[in-house]
Amino acid sequence: MRAFTSLSAAALLPVFAAAFSFNFDNSPTQCGNLSLSITGTGTPPYRVLIIPVGPSTLPGNIEVRKITQQNFTGESTQTSFQLKFPSNTQFIAVVSDSTGFGSGGTSGAVTVLSSNDASCFDPHTQVQPLFAYSIVPAGVINQCAPTRIWWDPTLVQGTPTFQGAIPGGQSFSVPEGALSTVPDQGLGFNWTASVRAGTTLLLVGGDDRGPGTAGSSVFIVGQGDNSCLSDQSPSSTPGSPAGGSYPTSTSGSGTGSGGG
Ligand SMILES: *[C@@H]1O[C@H](CO)[C@@H](O)[C@H](O)[C@H]1NC(C)=O
Ligand SMILES: *[C@@H]1O[C@H](CO)[C@@H](O)[C@H](O)[C@H]1NC(C)=O
Ligand SMILES: *[C@@H]1O[C@H](CO)[C@@H](O)[C@H](O)[C@H]1NC(C)=O
Repeated sequence: MRAFTSLSAAALLPVFAAAFSFNFDNSPTQCGNLSLSITGTGTPPYRVLIIPVGPSTLPGNIEVRKITQQNFTGESTQTSFQLKFPSNTQFIAVVSDSTGFGSGGTSGAVTVLSSNDASCFDPHTQVQPLFAYSIVPAGVINQCAPTRIWWDPTLVQGTPTFQGAIPGGQSFSVPEGALSTVPDQGLGFNWTASVRAGTTLLLVGGDDRGPGTAGSSVFIVGQGDNSCLSDQSPSSTPGSPAGGSYPTSTSGSGTGSGGG
């Protein structure tokens, strides 16, 4: 009887109570080292994907920020790396363990503070994705509606993979069914976005050269039917961003608690 009782209680817990999360250990600065620590218990190895958001702040709107993945070493619960982003730009951090993309949560938009070091980027050279992908219908992702994602197979290495990153929300891997070729397009797959309308969604593409090597595109998910939604459908949920405390403006004030 006792076992039955505790099982019932456990069943009432939210399905998506993450077993672990992360904190920024210091404020991110231009070309400075950024350190992150895992809180709680996940299944190592851990990794963090740093995704630029918002505009460039450099003259001529030159974009120097690349999506970067940082692997934690072995079973380590802390990592430190140089953040090669200019001051006053923003990014989100998506932390994962071996169970899946985004399992450790996603921060809201974090602001890079200024420093005296500008040696980590070339302000005159625009970064380019290593390959391009397209979506159909172009330029929109609607709730529960099919979206085709396709690419030129001669320009990729291996099979591309895609992630949906939701600032301050629950990021996910885009499920990739069987690949197909559509006339006048290229190789790709059809995906039904189980993401609620109004959610800010970054679609991140990459191939064997690394996650994000095809860059990212930002969408506000459009209206659609409810056929694909459940309690577990990802959406940005202000109030539960990961990352602990971090600057959300150039004055260094603010924390992640306000959401994306
Ligand atoms: C950043 O980290 C690297 C490698 O750990 C170290 O050599 C360097 O001194 C650090 N830079 C600063 C400004 O702390
Ligand atoms: C990070 O780990 C992945 C495997 O999870 C590996 O493919 C990738 O090369 C690693 N990246 C670096 C910079 O070591
Ligand atoms: C996938 O999407 C394309 C383009 O919208 C469409 O022509 C094709 O019929 C779809 N395939 C499936 C299996 O739904």
